[in-house]
Amino acid sequence: MAVITEIEKYKDELVRLRRDLHAHPELAYKEKRTARLVSELLKSWGVQVDQGIAETGVVGTLSTGSGPSIALRADMDALPMAEANTFDHKSQHVGCMHACGHDGHTAMLLGAAKYLAEHGQYKGTIRFIFQPAEEAAGGAKRMLDEGLFDSFTVDAVFGMHNWPGLAAGSFATCPGPMMASLDCFDIHIAGQGTHGATPQRGIDPIMISAELIGALQTVVSRNIDPNEPAVISITKMHAGDAHNVIPAQAHLGGGIRCFNPKIREILCRRIVEVAEGVCSAHGAFAEVEFLTQAPAVINTPESAELACQVATDIAGGEKVVSNVAPVMVSEDFSYMLEKKPGCFMFIGNGEGEGGCSIHNPNYDFNDDVLTLGSSYWVKLTESFLSEAVVD
Ligand code: NI
Repeated sequence: MAVITEIEKYKDELVRLRRDLHAHPELAYKEKRTARLVSELLKSWGVQVDQGIAETGVVGTLSTGSGPSIALRADMDALPMAEANTFDHKSQHVGCMHACGHDGHTAMLLGAAKYLAEHGQYKGTIRFIFQPAEEAAGGAKRMLDEGLFDSFTVDAVFGMHNWPGLAAGSFATCPGPMMASLDCFDIHIAGQGTHGATPQRGIDPIMISAELIGALQTVVSRNIDPNEPAVISITKMHAGDAHNVIPAQAHLGGGIRCFNPKIREILCRRIVEVAEGVCSAHGAFAEVEFLTQAPAVINTPESAELACQVATDIAGGEKVVSNVAPVMVSEDFSYMLEKKPGCFMFIGNGEGEGGCSIHNPNYDFNDDVLTLGSSYWVKLTESFLSEAVVD
């Protein structure tokens, strides 16, 4: 790893900071302590700070007054789950845990901000975006709805996520689709309740649910081009309270994931048509409600190329995967990529110890990659601001 020498000197400070964030995780839109800490550090290094975007979001700005502008985004929120780790920096907040490494993402971007404020060689504007509520609460969209890219000029935006299973010291991305879109839905089925002994007097929503679950699996297999990856998973099923009562209602829930916006439209439309059609055939009613949604992460090819060049400069060509296979997991950074060119990057979190999968109670961010991540941000910024041609 060819980490920037000055940044390597920050290592102990970044590890302390990352572990402090890990010990004090905060849920979506409640990242008050985190946002305060981020703001205070940025100010102490002379970075201009704007707070309160999407409640707890923070934007730091460094600018030489003219030239192109680049935005670097980290997420700050934790997950509502109990931590199983027993090390000293384990979560002090019951039922809340940094199980996705956003503590590491925040620390890596802070490391870059400190270096760029003190030693950066650039001409232009750098935006450090610390986003709240990435985990299924729409923080990126809300920052954009509140005028993120109107209030702050940005020519391109870049994001980074740690990736367990990818060796520490490695990077991976690809041009085009990289992470799937997500559309979570609930289906409410209204039948007619009756005694379990007299089904002919009611409309059984449980039997209809069973038929509907099977029918929904035909959407991907019969309505979608086999060359297009897509998945519909039913992950919730609630109905009934007694052995001798056919309930009046049943509720299903699940998620749709794919990479192509046109396929996404078909999937969302067919869910509604199939639910309404199956229910109608039995005299019941279906109401389909869409909840959390995010578009696919689609990298701009030129930005992905730049990101790979920079990663190669830092980590060496053998540590950079420039055509990683897209993953079905989603990420709301996609909303920012809908507005601006840019690229999302995976940084290896290692395998085995410290590389345990994300959203797992034994997960921990790998502190060995903190300075590498900060170095990537710095080199990317310096390369972009020296190369960017702005229309
Ligand atoms: Ni995450």
